[in-house]
Amino acid sequence: MQQFRRIGVLTSGGDAPGMNAVIRAIARKAKKQGVEAVGIIGGYSGLINEKMIPLTTTTVSNIISHGGTILYSDRCPEFKTEEGMQKAIETCKNNQIDAIVAIGGDGTFRGATDLAIRGIPTIGVTGTIDNDITATDYTVGFDTAMNTVVEVLDKLRDTCESHARCNVVEVMGRDCGQIALRAGIAAGAMAVAIPELPFDEDAMINRIKAAKLRAKRGMLIVVSEGLNTVDENGNKIRYGEILQKKIQEETGIETKFARLAHIVRGGTPTLRDRLTASQMGVKAIDLILEGKSNLVVVEEDGKIASKDIVFALTADRMYKNKLQDGDLDKFSAEDVAEMEALCEKRRKEIKELYDIINDIAL
Ligand code: ADP
Ligand code: F6P
Repeated sequence: MQQFRRIGVLTSGGDAPGMNAVIRAIARKAKKQGVEAVGIIGGYSGLINEKMIPLTTTTVSNIISHGGTILYSDRCPEFKTEEGMQKAIETCKNNQIDAIVAIGGDGTFRGATDLAIRGIPTIGVTGTIDNDITATDYTVGFDTAMNTVVEVLDKLRDTCESHARCNVVEVMGRDCGQIALRAGIAAGAMAVAIPELPFDEDAMINRIKAAKLRAKRGMLIVVSEGLNTVDENGNKIRYGEILQKKIQEETGIETKFARLAHIVRGGTPTLRDRLTASQMGVKAIDLILEGKSNLVVVEEDGKIASKDIVFALTADRMYKNKLQDGDLDKFSAEDVAEMEALCEKRRKEIKELYDIINDIAL
């Protein structure tokens, strides 16, 4: 069995509340197992440029309740090149880093698998507000993000009610409507538009008109950023702004537009995120010390487990109908059936939540 001297930890891609709790769990669990942990600064660029700090018990003290990431995050195109990758591998060798835990989203996991196949044992841990990774039921940061959206929607509801206005609110989530959908239901939105399912604008307008007749005052519509497009000159067209104008014109109700943007990424992580982060961080160290690599830590029906990273990335492409020729060749029939089941589970879950909006929003 390989002896591990040091384990490197990095956070990459968009930051997410709870990343610090993962870092803390990794550092503490590694120490308990007699292994040193080092923090790589600024995602994969820190690995290329040898930027790191020791992660001692004290370095990770008092961070569990903090949003953001003490290791900072970055998007690093150089890491996608063979030259950048080789520099990262050199850094590991020069600094006796025998394994890496990469905390982030699907892009981060693509980098992690590239490292793993070049001989650096690497484990991925989810850290993205989007909850857009098909192989896991949950990604660290999702709960905090949803709670932040609910908090802001509640505030908008107050002022909409006072002024008898409608507010269309755009929320993050990339191509995934999960934040919009769940937060929209929890905040009592009248309609939620997400990329995964067709949105019936006329039904929304009719619902708003009917509510106006009943003298309903405040109205909230939630829109996922994944519905934004670009015009022929590359300028962004915000779907929420299109809805705002349409609602105002067709219902006569004064309608405002708000874009929550990066507000949704910050803040104190919730219990759910801190707990899952701690469980996933511990699991990552367990996997490394068992000699495993090229896995991502997932939550599956309430249990912490792991999946092959390439399996997870392929399941994502399957879910997004972006499979390329040969993608499934390396997988067994059972693996492909499992991917299909994961996609189906996710589609069903989203459809059921979407139907709830239509059942209870009046
Ligand atoms: P996220 O992890 O949140 O999905 P990104 O997609 O921006 O965020 O990816 C984070 C980083 O992961 C990128 O900046 C890059 O350094 C690395 N990465 C992404 N895709 C690849 C790839 N195909 N090969 C190697 N590294 C990658
Ligand atoms: O993946 C997390 C996320 O916040 C997405 O919801 C959003 O589309 C994207 O990152 C924004 O990225 P940036 O921080 O580079 O603007």
